[in-house]
Amino acid sequence: MRKPIIAGNWKMFKTFDEAVEFTESVREKVPSEEKVDAVICAPAIFLPTLVDIAMETDLAIGAQNMHYENEGAFTGEISPSQLASINVDYVILGHSERREYFNETDEAVNKKVRAALANGIVPIICCGETLEEREAQKTEEKVSSQITAALEGFTPEEVNHMVIAYEPIWAIGTGKTATADDANAVCGKIREVVEGLYGKETAESIRIQYGGSVKPENIEELLLKEHIDGALVGGASLDQESYLALLNKAQ
Ligand code: 13P
Repeated sequence: MRKPIIAGNWKMFKTFDEAVEFTESVREKVPSEEKVDAVICAPAIFLPTLVDIAMETDLAIGAQNMHYENEGAFTGEISPSQLASINVDYVILGHSERREYFNETDEAVNKKVRAALANGIVPIICCGETLEEREAQKTEEKVSSQITAALEGFTPEEVNHMVIAYEPIWAIGTGKTATADDANAVCGKIREVVEGLYGKETAESIRIQYGGSVKPENIEELLLKEHIDGALVGGASLDQESYLALLNKAQ
């Protein structure tokens, strides 16, 4: 049985005071980590404070991106070892917004996954198709190639530490959710790809989230599906009540 993982992706939202207030208020209310992994992926500038606030609670804090080098002349970037040095637990990698607006490639995602693991940070690896790709029946081809590239060159043991997020781009922030059956079919395909690369045991244990307009009203139906083990949530993770409702419905 795979433990559900619900990760909020705050993207470029919230001021410092709002982030602190949210985290202080939810930290004692999140369900036990024995039942569900609760994560907030916040803007990098807030991470040290939020990690302190969430310390010794069942809430984990993650970043939304990082560089793949541990140090170097990369003005404006944040490194995996810097994130590890403030005890960040997770990092979202290869989000479609980073691929689209910041030219993030499959190759860079693969290097970042390696760097995250080397620094003890759990990577949440994103994949997903555009509307045009879906309409051209290219969804499976697209996510298979993204996942094959991101997972290249690891051991099954390393893959066990990863989380995959399937986020159809046309469902992000649009209010359009993939149907639970469609989302499950693609997550099942991703599991097949992992099986082809790393074997059945690894494929059965890796957690695959769905993301794209997930809300308290639709999360239960999604999580009932065989291959959906959690959610990566944008808009609905910005509100405390709705974030807690997502977690409560996942346990
Ligand atoms: P929404 O939940 O706002 O559609 O965002 C999904 C997403 O991109 C999470 O990473």
